[in-house]
Order: sequence, then structure tokens, then C-alpha cells
Amino acid sequence: MRALTLAAVAGGAAFGYASVIERNWFALRRFEIPVLPAGAEPLRVLHLSDAHLSPGRHRLLSWIRSLDALAPDLVVNTGDSIAHAAAVQPLLDALGPLLERPGVFVYGSNDLYSPVPKNPLAYLLGPSSARKRTIPDLPWAELGAGLGAAGWMDANNARGRIKAGGLDIEVGGVHDSHINRDRYQQIAGPTDPAADLRLAVMHSPEPRVMDLFAADGYDLLLAGHTHGGQVCVPTFGTLVTNCGIERERASGLSRHPLRGGQDRPWLHVSAGLGTSPWAPVRFNCRPEASLLTLVPRIG
Ligand SMILES: [Fe+2]
Repeated sequence: MRALTLAAVAGGAAFGYASVIERNWFALRRFEIPVLPAGAEPLRVLHLSDAHLSPGRHRLLSWIRSLDALAPDLVVNTGDSIAHAAAVQPLLDALGPLLERPGVFVYGSNDLYSPVPKNPLAYLLGPSSARKRTIPDLPWAELGAGLGAAGWMDANNARGRIKAGGLDIEVGGVHDSHINRDRYQQIAGPTDPAADLRLAVMHSPEPRVMDLFAADGYDLLLAGHTHGGQVCVPTFGTLVTNCGIERERASGLSRHPLRGGQDRPWLHVSAGLGTSPWAPVRFNCRPEASLLTLVPRIG
């Protein structure tokens, strides 16, 4: 009986920590990526993802508001920005001056479909089933219109060219493969070797999609979706990735594919800023934004 009581107390304390403390303990991760042509000035890219914003998340909103002080040259948002129909304007307000900087965005499934209650343990048992829903009920178009009005590039199954930090950047992106909205055939084709950087943007780091970006010559792939696993076991890491990528690449910087030569593109997967309102926990996996400093290639 005493053991049961102790276990219940420990479980309650862990849940309290994960839902109240760590979920609001935001981290800024910094990476340097040697991906630019020789002689180029460094390019500072702020990578945001998976805010899953609902209007009451004041700590998250104020942290997002603080990120403009990093003075990024480019902002990339890899989706799952909202979790509530009334979240679009608070998000745009929090982005504030970041919207005056060059930006690129794609949607995640949660920008289209409102969160539904589910057993939090289901997250640990396999990929989620957002694909079963077919009629979007969140204002994804309003979100896109707000970001687009600021001049950010809508990269959902789209390809284009942007200028940031004096660099000429070719951008290709897809809508969320997790709900089968990716249409790579609409953007397929070799990238331009004359561009200073070839940047691929997607929500879910699905290997079959990343293979296509890699084959077309993209240098840097940015994705979110995994939440880094949300619950990470010390010394083991995440239990799940919620898509086809391996556990060891669930967040942070790697190459794609995992093994191979030096010409593979770089991959950065953000562990994201938030969680589904129905799984409001983070354990050993702090919510994050990332500042990627792109520098000239080595050698
Ligand atoms: Fe997400």
C-alpha cells in the first residue's frame, strides 16, 4: 500500500513538472551549418514550429514575441501553428516585428483540424490518425493570409525565390505529408545551381519526401512535427517520432539520408514550441525555437 502511494505521488509530481514547468521552459537552440558558398556572409535563420497556439498561452506568446531580438535574416515556420479558431491574431501579434523580416511557412495538419481528445498514451503507440479527418475546421486560410500579407512565402506545394541577408535563396516546400497533402510533383525538378542556397521546407520529416528534395539538389531541409518525441527517456531519448524518421533524428541537426557521402543535404528538425492541448506534457524535451547560423561550406 505504501509503495502504491509513493508511486502515485511520484507520478503526480512528474506530470505536474511536465505539464506546468517544462512545457513553459522554452529553450533557444543554436546550430552552425556549413552550407553557403565560399565567401558568403553568415545567414541567421530562425526556425519556428509546432506552436499549437491557443489564446490563453501567455508565456508562449511572450516568448515568441521576444525572439525578434535575435535579429534573424530569415524566419521559417514549419507548421502546426494553431490549435484554436481564435489563435490566428494572437499568433500574428506575437510574431510582430518578425513579420517584417523575410519569411517562409508551410502548414501542418493541426493548422487545419482542431485538436480532439485522445488517450495521451496513444501518442506513444504509433503515428496519429489526423489523416482520417477530411473537412478542415480551423482558419488555416486566415493564418496563411496573415503571414502572406506580411510578405512571407507560402511554400505549401510551392516553389519560389526569396532574398534574405543579401543571398539569393531558392525555396521549395510541401504541404503536410502526414495527412497526404504533399504534392511533390508540383515542385519537382532540379534546383538552380546559381542560387546561393537551396532550401526545402516541410512539416513532417517523412523520408520518402526528403529523398525527393535530396535528389533535386536541396542543401538544407527544415521540418517539425515530431515534437522531439515530447517525452524523452534519459540516456535513451524519444520513444516515438510520429512519422517515418528514425528516433535518433527526431530533433536537431543531421544529414539526409542518415548515412552516405558528404553531398547529402543537412536536415534540421525542430522539437517545436508547443504540444497538443490534449497532451500538454514535455519531459526531458523542452519546447524550443532554433537559431541556425548558415556559414560557408568547409573546404
Ligand atoms: Fe505538432
